[in-house]
Order: sequence, then structure tokens, then C-alpha cells
Amino acid sequence: MKKYYKLLKFEFEMKKKLLFVCLGNICRSPAAEAVCLHKIYEQGLQDYYEVDSAGTGSWHVGNKADSRMRAAALRRGIEIKSLARQISLHDFYEFDFILTMDKDNLSTVESLSSKAGQQKIANIQPLLKFARKTNIIEVPDPYYGGEKGFEDVLDLLDDAIDGLLASPEIIC
Ligand code: 4NP
Repeated sequence: MKKYYKLLKFEFEMKKKLLFVCLGNICRSPAAEAVCLHKIYEQGLQDYYEVDSAGTGSWHVGNKADSRMRAAALRRGIEIKSLARQISLHDFYEFDFILTMDKDNLSTVESLSSKAGQQKIANIQPLLKFARKTNIIEVPDPYYGGEKGFEDVLDLLDDAIDGLLASPEIIC
């Protein structure tokens, strides 16, 4: 696997830019960003990727991730450091992949993308398309639920991001 990354680096000298998107950018997408960064560092791939997250909504802009989500991630040795921001049209030019958590995020992102014009480069995909251990197609919003919801989110993200980082679609 590493040799493909080496080819990518030496032939193109470009990083793949991944943006994870949910509604509030305080639970699912900041967790996805942190899980992805954790795996990138574990696999020594930090020269090949840039990772960020954003929300379709603006209510929590500037806030830390939800304390329940941060605590659940920390129990797995993963620190969520990001502050919430809202997705912007610029993101469609800036990122190679925009990975959405649920159908609502996907449809909001797709309709925003149509306003970004012809120069856009982002490839928009539901993140769980890359999951290998489940047929679930949406990462459920844990915000109004109990602690288990946050653990379930992390399990889904763990699986999907393993699949994402191994996917020829992302590597090539
Ligand atoms: P997220 O969860 O989209 O995973 O960040 C949510 C956080 C806050 C709200 C909704 C979803 N909210 O309505 O404030």
C-alpha cells in the first residue's frame, strides 16, 4: 500500500484533502476528522493527506466539539482538537473529497455544490460507503441521545475510515 502513496507523493507532490461534514460540526464530523488524523499518523501517511471538518449549520461555529464526543474519543486515545466551522463554497475548490455523515448532509452539500460553479473539484461521497463491517448507510446523530450513541458513532467511523484510507478512489 505504501508504494502507491510514495508514487502519489513523488509524481505529483500533492496531498489529498479530505473534508468531513455533518450538521453541527460538534459531534460526528470533528470525530471523523480526529479518527482519520489518528489513523494517518499511525500509518505514517501524514505527508499524503490534509484533513478538516465542517458543519452544514452555523449554530456552533467557533465551539469545541461536544464534551461527550471528546470524552468518548479520548477513551480510545483520540483527541478531538478542532473548533466548529460552517462549510463554505470555497471548500468545493479546496478539497478533493467531501465525506458526509447522513442523507441530509449529503443533500445539503450537493445543493451547495451546484452553486460552486464549474471550477469545483470536490468529489462528494457518503462516508459510510467506505465501511466494510456494516450495511448502515448513515452515521446517526448522537446529539440528543445517550452515551452509547457516541460510542456507536466512533465504531462506525473507525470502520469507514479504515475503508476510506484503503480505497483506490482516495489513493489514486
Ligand atoms: P453533529 O450533531 O451534526 O454530529 O455535530 C449535532 C450537533 C448539534 C445539533 C445537531 C446535530 N444541534 O441541533 O444543535
